[in-house]
Amino acid sequence: MEPKGKVIIVTGASSGIGLASARALAREGARVVLAARSMAALSREADSIVREGGSAVPVAMDVTSDASVGAAVASILERFGRIDVVVNNAGNGGRLSLWESTDGAFTRAMFDVHVFGMERVTRAVLPAMLAQGSGTVVNVASTVAWVPMPAAAAYCAAKAAVVAFSESLRGELEGRGVRVTVFAPPHTSTDAGNDWPLEGPQVFAPAWVADQLVETLRRDRRSFLAGASNRSLLVLQRIAPALAARIMKDIGLRAEAKSAARMRGADDAARRPPRLDTA
Ligand SMILES: NC(=O)c1ccc[n+]([C@@H]2O[C@H](COP(=O)([O-])OP(=O)(O)OC[C@H]3O[C@@H](n4cnc5c(N)ncnc54)[C@H](OP(=O)(O)O)[C@@H]3O)[C@@H](O)[C@H]2O)c1
Repeated sequence: MEPKGKVIIVTGASSGIGLASARALAREGARVVLAARSMAALSREADSIVREGGSAVPVAMDVTSDASVGAAVASILERFGRIDVVVNNAGNGGRLSLWESTDGAFTRAMFDVHVFGMERVTRAVLPAMLAQGSGTVVNVASTVAWVPMPAAAAYCAAKAAVVAFSESLRGELEGRGVRVTVFAPPHTSTDAGNDWPLEGPQVFAPAWVADQLVETLRRDRRSFLAGASNRSLLVLQRIAPALAARIMKDIGLRAEAKSAARMRGADDAARRPPRLDTA
């Protein structure tokens, strides 16, 4: 599918991978809709894309709200009359924590944005795609959907649900013109990515990941894990699952310890009395 001229909604487009993807798609000639909650950031970024010669509009959308998603999709359909692609990218990794130290609200928040958010947006755009007889739903997953990592149980479970949902829906929509694609970014230097101090995996730039997403769309891939080391990890998990689990345990628990130390440092800094300027 060539992005040129296509109406493409990117959720979570106010920063990180979503913003980089919106920019990359606009460079390819797509009519991009940048969706997220921070309207000021979306407007600024859409203006910047337009100044560079692209087509972009900002739309306020909270993927955890039926009313917000319904209103946003209605306004997009009113403006463009069609939706060719939706990239369900909105999300966040949350803080790395041992599951025992989190509560049910934390797990539900992960599922709310990643799983139910993705499902809500897909439900809202699908009738238009089916009526057109064409469309692509891109669901952003993560390597940890297949190779889970300790200290991120809720996130891994949510992303695994995204993959299973996508694979299942793909079968239902086959032959009706609507494709479902799973795209898994590698560890990427974004607000969410930088919250996870992982040692080991290479950290990629959002712009590189965005180019991989564009290529995934262009080649009509069913599923793509960006980053060779992620694909190797998946192969390792298939041939030596205990070794893969050991590697992920090591990476996850080390990162959780680092993350907890960072938090303690921030707490200590907040408790420290302000320095008096005696000069
Ligand atoms: N970074 C990585 O290493 C990595 C690796 C694998 C997968 N991923 C996945 O890639 C996606 C993007 O992550 P990122 O790293 O680019 O994160 P990011 O820079 O923190 O950006 C997250 C985006 O999601 C939006 N968002 C959050 N909650 C939302 C809601 N309720 N409704 C609408 N938008 C919402 C945020 O905008 P507002 O706050 O303005 O709403 C923001 O635009 C996520 O699904 C993440 O799980 C990331």
